[in-house]
Amino acid sequence: MSEHFEGGYNAIERKEEPATKVFVEVGTNQLPVTFMAKREFKGNEMYVGIDTDAEMVRFARHATEEGQNATFIEARGEQLPLKDGSVDEIFFGNVFGAPRIPEHKKTKFLDEAERVLKTGGSLVIKETNTPPDFAKLTKLFAGRNLHEERKLTPKDKEWVEELRKYEDLGLMTDNSSYLVFLKKITAQ
Ligand SMILES: C[S@@+](CC[C@H](N)C(=O)[O-])C[C@H]1O[C@@H](n2cnc3c(N)ncnc32)[C@H](O)[C@@H]1O
Repeated sequence: MSEHFEGGYNAIERKEEPATKVFVEVGTNQLPVTFMAKREFKGNEMYVGIDTDAEMVRFARHATEEGQNATFIEARGEQLPLKDGSVDEIFFGNVFGAPRIPEHKKTKFLDEAERVLKTGGSLVIKETNTPPDFAKLTKLFAGRNLHEERKLTPKDKEWVEELRKYEDLGLMTDNSSYLVFLKKITAQ
């Protein structure tokens, strides 16, 4: 187990039977996918929403319909309170492109995504606001246990259908927007 989790709180622990499908969103702001995309997490599915800003965590929780397996916590994307290999999908929406996030944190976000994902799990990066240069972003993927599977832009026919899983349409999306899907390829 990595130093990030050791002895810490595990956001995925549940009293009842363990969740078999875990979706983690980092940088929810007040607009988590449970609200923006009306995603529901029930039965064996579980959602964990994370933000560094306590007020945003409160707003995001409040914006989410009750009766779901959804947990909102104040934590940092570079030190996730999650066990190694415990997550099916980790999603960062407009976080890599957020103007105040320095490059060294982006590297840490990827380290953590790689650590917490199950083998075969997905990392999804959505940039519809102020997208960082894609070539620069892909350099951060090099040499990792993360394989870039797909990149979508508004020109692709699947764009609307895929984007709808993560946000309401027509916010600030323009032709520089993208969605990128990476897969954790082997166990660490
Ligand atoms: C531009 S908002 C993203 C809003 C929304 N997810 C979207 O798709 O538009 C960026 C969010 O990332 C959060 N954030 C900034 N640094 C973070 C970090 N190190 N770990 C987790 N969240 C962070 C900010 O508090 C803010 O709520």
